[in-house]
Amino acid sequence: MKSGEPSHTGRDAFGSSFGVLVALAGSAVGLGNLWRFPYLVGENGGAAFILIYLGFVFLVGLPILLSEFIIGRRSQAAARGAFKVLAPGSRWSIAGVLAVLCCTLILSFYSVVGGWGIEYLLKALRFDFTSGKDAAFSTLFTSFTASSWKPLLCHTVFLAATALIVVFGVKNGIEKFSKVMMPVLFVIMLGIAVRSLTLPDAGAGIDYLFRPDWSKVSADTFLAALGQAFFSLSLGSGMVITYGSYVSRKENIVALSAKTAVADTLFALIAGCAIMPAVFAFGISPGEGPGLVFITLPYIFGQLPLGGFIAILFFLALLLAALTSSISVMEVIVAFCIEEFKLRRRAAVALCFAVLWVLGCLCSLSMGLLGDWKVFGKTIFDLFDFVSANVLMLVGGLLVVLFAGWKLGRKVVHDELTNSGALRIPEWFLDTLLFLIRYLAPAAIAVIAIFQWI
Ligand code: PFF
Repeated sequence: MKSGEPSHTGRDAFGSSFGVLVALAGSAVGLGNLWRFPYLVGENGGAAFILIYLGFVFLVGLPILLSEFIIGRRSQAAARGAFKVLAPGSRWSIAGVLAVLCCTLILSFYSVVGGWGIEYLLKALRFDFTSGKDAAFSTLFTSFTASSWKPLLCHTVFLAATALIVVFGVKNGIEKFSKVMMPVLFVIMLGIAVRSLTLPDAGAGIDYLFRPDWSKVSADTFLAALGQAFFSLSLGSGMVITYGSYVSRKENIVALSAKTAVADTLFALIAGCAIMPAVFAFGISPGEGPGLVFITLPYIFGQLPLGGFIAILFFLALLLAALTSSISVMEVIVAFCIEEFKLRRRAAVALCFAVLWVLGCLCSLSMGLLGDWKVFGKTIFDLFDFVSANVLMLVGGLLVVLFAGWKLGRKVVHDELTNSGALRIPEWFLDTLLFLIRYLAPAAIAVIAIFQWI
């Protein structure tokens, strides 16, 4: 069966190898790269954080990515169904339910931040950042996110756009959108990085990104780096299982996984190069936290020659990156609903939209009106972020590697990596990978999780 032919189960599928790659990279590259990565680098001391992050991506992230791929492609089923196909009658399918829950929480707050992206793109189009009209960017951001109706409206539009793409299906919706938007995103981000790197005082920012200062590293740096690797590569959320189930048995999943990890890392580094040199050139502290993109950058755009146009391009890129990711999160839930409740795609998308809209509104309002509603001392927004990225993704990742490494075992892993013997892989590669999947990845996740939760 070639890519593009419907799978034997009659399910929707990706139409080409390039389509699979851009869809996977589209899911991985998102707010995690453009919003989260730069501020985490800023908070955790620059290059040392980046090196630790890279270590986690390739030693822990890649084995999890491959494990999810193996589970999805072998079963040709969605997050829960995959475990039911591969381990019938067992309790492993709970891992799939956790993944769907994880995606529900992620998309609830992701859609709110995507909505902020829409508002900021509109502001950029009105040249608000360069007109000198809105100079107090910090107040502007907090008063916007705390207000009631505007962020809700933006969240609604963002979620509706996501639903509109997903309703067209894997090949005609997700793949087509990603194929056009990912190259556009790449060109825009590269252009902004070049502009930033050629600013008169860019050197300090480049130093910060590429010269490690190990004195800033603490246990928290490792926690933050692993959490970011999970979030950025969309791991432990059932995404790769679901997308993997739409991939033909002829694709080389080792190459696809490696390319996805490389593309995601490249985008994060390009985002760093687009932001940090400019931050340093204007003498701002890089450790501004989550407001870096929505408060610091607008200020910089206001000072930069041609800043008005760069602001438009930046927020357009942010929005596109967010959309190619949000569609993948929604697809995990939609595919689950189609399979488990035997719904048609349209009905599944409608149900998903309704539930996520309500949860997203709660997240958005927790920045203002519902700010006093706290669970474990966290607002709803922070709680959803914490539980999904710091608990469910880690648990999901752990279950996935244990399942692939121990339950499926060497023979199945070998069979999937070689497409039943059609491809060759060296023995040492399989041994190393199995070691990472069986021992290193679970140990790293367990240690980090314990540190994080105590
Ligand atoms: N990887 C995405 C980002 O970096 O923004 C976030 C994400 C997408 C997480 C899809 C989980 C997921 F299933």
